[in-house]
Amino acid sequence: MLKDKVAIVTGASKGIGFEIAKEFAARGATVIVCSRNMADAEKSAGLIKGKVYPEQLDVTSPPGVAKFVNHVLDTHKRVDILVNNAGYPFDRKIWFKKFHKVTEDEVDRVIAVDLKGTFRLSQAAIPLMIKKGGVIINISSTPAISGHTEGAPYSIAKAGIIAMTKHIALEYGNKNIRAYTLALGNISTEATFDSMTPAEKKRAAAENSMRRWGYPKEVASVAASIAEDSFSFATGNTIVVDGGAVLL
Ligand SMILES: NC(=O)c1ccc[n+]([C@@H]2O[C@H](COP(=O)([O-])OP(=O)(O)OC[C@H]3O[C@@H](n4cnc5c(N)ncnc54)[C@H](OP(=O)(O)O)[C@@H]3O)[C@@H](O)[C@H]2O)c1
Repeated sequence: MLKDKVAIVTGASKGIGFEIAKEFAARGATVIVCSRNMADAEKSAGLIKGKVYPEQLDVTSPPGVAKFVNHVLDTHKRVDILVNNAGYPFDRKIWFKKFHKVTEDEVDRVIAVDLKGTFRLSQAAIPLMIKKGGVIINISSTPAISGHTEGAPYSIAKAGIIAMTKHIALEYGNKNIRAYTLALGNISTEATFDSMTPAEKKRAAAENSMRRWGYPKEVASVAASIAEDSFSFATGNTIVVDGGAVLL
């Protein structure tokens, strides 16, 4: 159970972040449901039963992140769990470009959300976890481990997240702060499955041993389980959730 825990989930308006927020709330946590747009955060929080608080958060804004974390601390007095889920929107124009055609601006835009957003929120949350411990879960992707023929800016940003998780785990293990990377395979969301052609969907499903797409709730259940106190003697891990394709 996650009773008495305060959890921040970035990018929780839809997709995987929404399901993580829902699962955390179902396990008893107080959940801060974040979106860049307050109306979307409110709408999503309204669909979740339990102790949920919508908040506006753009992870690319340093003053916005500082203001957000102070506000959460003022309101809830603690932060126990941080899930860095916010990701740059799936953009076919960037994704299908060959490596040598990708622009620096495209790399910067993806890094600003996925990598630096994760960095900013983690830096802001760690001081609040140092006394009582905490859990940081960073959402990455299997191409960050295995490489891929598409989406280089994304793989680059997501690979940095794996290194960041390891640093946090090693630097703060003695403060009872645990950190994990979830490296996801093809998870069916509006951003991915719903935007693909039937042929692309089929090809993606064939990539893993289960021959199917994963569901956001399957990621949410892993995230909630590792956030629980009983997951106590593992940290720094990259946990692959991909139906059996990339095996570590
Ligand atoms: N679906 C997959 O197959 C898959 C595979 C591997 C990894 N992942 C990763 O899993 C995470 C969720 O993916 P998803 O498929 O659920 O994508 P999604 O539906 O596009 O959700 C992404 C979330 O990120 C938020 N976001 C985007 N830019 C932001 C910013 N600057 N500041 C704060 N929040 C921001 C969006 O919220 P608002 O628009 O409401 O602000 C949205 O809720 C991402 O990190 C993604 O890279 C997904």
